[in-house]
This record gives sequence, C-alpha cells and structure tokens, in this order.
Amino acid sequence: MEPKISDQPNFQEWIALLFQEKFGYPPQGQFRAPGRVNLIGEHTDYNDGFVLPMAIDRAVWLAAGRRDDRQVRLLACTLEREATFSLNDLQPDPEARWTNYVRGVLALLERAGHRLSGLDLVYGGDVPIGAGLSSSAAVEVAVAVAANHLFGLDLPLLEMARLCQQAEHEFAGTHCGLMDQLISLLGQEGHALLIDCRHLTWEPVPLPPDAAVVVCDTGRRRGLVESAYNERRAQCEEGARRLGVMALRDLDVERFDSQAARLPPLLRKRCHHVVYENDRTLRAVQTLRRGDAAAFGRLMNASHTSLRDLYEVSCEELDLMAALAQQQAGCWGARMTGAGFGGCVVAMVEHGLVDPFIQTVGSLYERQALRTPSFYLCRASAGAGPV
Ligand code: GLA
Repeated sequence: MEPKISDQPNFQEWIALLFQEKFGYPPQGQFRAPGRVNLIGEHTDYNDGFVLPMAIDRAVWLAAGRRDDRQVRLLACTLEREATFSLNDLQPDPEARWTNYVRGVLALLERAGHRLSGLDLVYGGDVPIGAGLSSSAAVEVAVAVAANHLFGLDLPLLEMARLCQQAEHEFAGTHCGLMDQLISLLGQEGHALLIDCRHLTWEPVPLPPDAAVVVCDTGRRRGLVESAYNERRAQCEEGARRLGVMALRDLDVERFDSQAARLPPLLRKRCHHVVYENDRTLRAVQTLRRGDAAAFGRLMNASHTSLRDLYEVSCEELDLMAALAQQQAGCWGARMTGAGFGGCVVAMVEHGLVDPFIQTVGSLYERQALRTPSFYLCRASAGAGPV
C-alpha cells in the first residue's frame, strides 16, 4: 500500500458551518491553536531545561459563542462526540475523558477569579490524536485563547500557558512540563524556538532553508502513559535531590560525570539522559545558527539513542522508524518526538529527497512493522490566536 501523505481540508469553514447548523446562529469568534513537533530537548522541560520545538501547520480550530446561562455545549467534530455540562460543576469526567481538557481550562479560569458565562463550542482539526504532536495542548490552548477573547480577560501568554498546563495536571493526570502549551501559543513561522524552561524565555532559531521537517507517524498510539511519564518525572526529581541541586538543569555534563556514581543505576541512567540532552539541545541551536544540518542531525540521532537506552521511553515501532529514517540518503537525522511510548519520529530531510524518503521508509516500515505509517511534511507555523 502507498504510504499516505495527509491532505488538509479547510477546517475553519467546516467548523463555522457546523456551528451554525448545530446551534442556529453564527459563531462569535473562531480560533486556531497549532500542534507541535519537538526537534530536540526531550523530557527536559520539567527539569527546568531547554527544548527546541516548532509549532506545526496542523491545528485545532474552534468556533465559539457566548451563552447567557452557565451551560457549556461542546461538539468535537473530528471525534464525532458531543457533551453538555455546567460551569457550576467542573470536575474531570472519567466517562468522557475527551471533555476534560475543555473542562480543565474553564475550571482553572474560574478558579483564578474570572467569572465566565456558558459557551457553545465546536472544534476539530488535523493534529493526529495520541501521536505525540500535542493534540491535547492544542485543545487546551484553543479554549484558553477563545475565553480570553470572548470574555475580554486580557491574559498574558505565560499565564495562559501555565493555566493550560495545570488543566492537564489536574484534569488529565499527566504532570507535564510547559513546552507544549508554550509553543502552541508562541510559534513563529519558519522558526523553531529555543525555550529556557526555568527562566521562561525563548528565542527564534531559523531552520536550514534546504531542510524539510518530516514527521513519520508509526501508527502506534500511546496507551496509558500518564503513569510512566509521571514516574520518569519523579525519578528526575529524586536524582536532583540526591545530587543536591534544585533541578537537573543545574548540572552540566562535567559536574554530572564527576558525581554520577553517587546515584543508583536506574536513576543514573535517567539523569544522564536529561543532563546530556540539555547539552545536546544547546549545541543543536549552535549548529542551526551556523547552518550545519549534518551536525544537527547527528545530535538528533544521539537524542534518540539516549531516549531509547537511558530514558527508556521509546518502543519497537519508534526504534524501527528512526533507524529506517536515519539510513536514507538525504536524511540528516531522526528521533522520536514527544513523550514517547508510541507516536511519531521527526526527521530532517533534504528538500529534494523528501519523496523518495517517504516512499522508501514507508514501504520498509510497513513490511517490517505490519502497520501503515503516515507522513506529515510540516512547516513551522505561527502560534495560536483568533482567525
Ligand atoms: C509531553 C509533555 C511535555 C514534555 C514532553 C517530553 O509532550 O507534555 O511537557 O515533557 O512530553 O519532552
């Protein structure tokens, strides 16, 4: 079978039409929040470290209207699901987990003292779900941006990002870092962003002009990874505590190497990954600034190896996809992206060789993994906002 390259329907129009059809009046506002792909700096954000993600040209589109009462009517058109709930009773719903991102953001806004009214909401989009491209952060950010506009809240970006992160902690149970929500809000066309997750500062980093970012979806969806993710985070915190630092970000490679023997083997592996991944991320930015795509690619490959062997968040399908990608002519580097345990590999590929890359990797992967992969050729896009 031919590997699919997904095409992009016009979600904005489709969602506005659905809104009108469903609720009988036109939306008062429409909003877009992109997914993201992280180029390097994996599992470093919650260690106060460095990440290098870019917002992608796949997004959640949301059409919204304010109501006079406290009801929220929600239609998720890509999921083909509907729900109604009240702002007076905003709890996580274990039966309809897909609603929890919306519930969480609205609950935290109210808890922060913003008095909202009910809403009619229709959303959908083309960020694949459970693929490590931050579809859940995109939903949270879309809802936050919509509420910000419709209720005139004037929230600073960082506050919005933190609120969405908190919604994920409390309503989805993942103790995630801030990367996904930040990049969905801050994305810049044509650029990745180097984000310092301690100081919450960022700088745009241009991508090599002849490089294409190809996201290779293994088709394996993440299962219940919250517990494994939270466990990794706890191990890092324990490692930092034992080494006497506030966060693993405070250790450079030399200092870590000289003290690592104090850690039990498992914690040593976890911390090793984080400390070296921070170092790779900063070096990766330098390679991009001097236009050295080959050196950048080598750092991506090393990041994958470390996530596989030391942090142990990869899986068979990700390892196979990364290995196949790395072997192709014109591929500078490839690595798993996002939390792991399934989802996508990100590859940097020479523009002119993208078609043969996708053909070859697609058919080899399908034959060996017995799954059909998808490929998304991604452009770095702007962050969330009204459309
Ligand atoms: C998920 C989390 C992020 C980050 C990545 C791993 O996407 O939401 O905060 O920790 O995993 O880098």
